[in-house]
Amino acid sequence: MSADFDGKVVLVTGAGSGIGREAARLFAERGAHVFAADLNLDGLEETRDISAAGKIEIFGVDVSSEEQVRAFLARIEKDAGRLDAAFNNAGITGGTYRIEDYPIEDFDRVLTVNLRSVFLGMKYELPLIAKTGAGAITNTASVAALTGPGGMSAYAASKHGIHGLTRVVAMENASRNIRVNALAPGWTETPMVVSNSAQNPAFADLARKAIPAKRGGQPRELAEVAVWLSSPAASYVFGQMIVVDGGMTI
Ligand code: NAI
Repeated sequence: MSADFDGKVVLVTGAGSGIGREAARLFAERGAHVFAADLNLDGLEETRDISAAGKIEIFGVDVSSEEQVRAFLARIEKDAGRLDAAFNNAGITGGTYRIEDYPIEDFDRVLTVNLRSVFLGMKYELPLIAKTGAGAITNTASVAALTGPGGMSAYAASKHGIHGLTRVVAMENASRNIRVNALAPGWTETPMVVSNSAQNPAFADLARKAIPAKRGGQPRELAEVAVWLSSPAASYVFGQMIVVDGGMTI
C-alpha cells in the first residue's frame, strides 16, 4: 500500500457512510491523519472502528452551518497546524417531484446541504491549505451535474452548482498550487441508493441494466478516484470534474 499521505492532514465530510467512509479509510491506509466529519455519529464510529492502519478522528459537524464549519477548521488548525487535502463530499438527494410540485423548503434544504456546504467548506479550508503551502480540494458532484434527471431539480441544480463553483475556485487558486477538482459519481451502491433500491427492487434492477457496465459502482471505486485526485499523482489536474459512472454518460 502506497504511503503517499504520510504526515499529511486530510478532511473528509460525509465520512459516516458510503463514499466518504471509504475515502476516510483509504486516506488513513495511505498514512494520512484524517479529520472525518458527519452528522451521523454512529456512522462515524463505524468508519473509525474498521480502520486499523491509519489515524481517523471523528467530529459531528453539520456542513451547512457556517459556525460549525468554521469551528471544525479552527480545530484542525489547532490540533494539526496544517491541511493538505479536503474532500467535501456530504450530500443528500431530496425528494422526487416535478417542478410544479417541488416543495420550496425541500429545494432550499437540498441547496443548503449540498451546495452551500461546499462553498463554506472551501471558504474556510483554503486559508489553512494556503498556509500549508499547497494542497488539493475535491468536491463530490454527480452525473446529475451533467444531466437533467427528471424529478430531481434541487439535486441537479446543487450538483451543477458544485461543478461551477469548483471551476471558479480552481481558477482562483491554481497559481498557488492548490488544485480544486470534482468527482462525479454515477449510480453507486451506498445507503443513499441502496435504501431506495430496497423499497423498489424492480427500479434498482432496471437502473443496473441501464448502466453500460451492468452494475452499480462500489463506494471504494469512487473513493479511489477521490484519493487519487488529492494525491501527488494528480499534480497537473486542475479544475476538472472526473466522471466515475460505469459508462452511464457515454
Ligand atoms: P450516503 O448517504 O451513504 O452518505 C452521505 C453522508 O453525508 C451521510 O453519512 C450523511 O449523514 C452525511 N450528511 C448529510 N447531510 C449532512 C450534513 N448537513 N452535515 C454533515 N454530514 C451530512 O451517500 P453517498 O452515496 O456516499 O454520497 C456521498 C456523495 O456522493 C453525496 O454528495 C452524493 O450526492 C454523491 N453522489 C452519490 C451517488 C450515489 O449513487 N450514491 C451518485 C452521485 C453522487
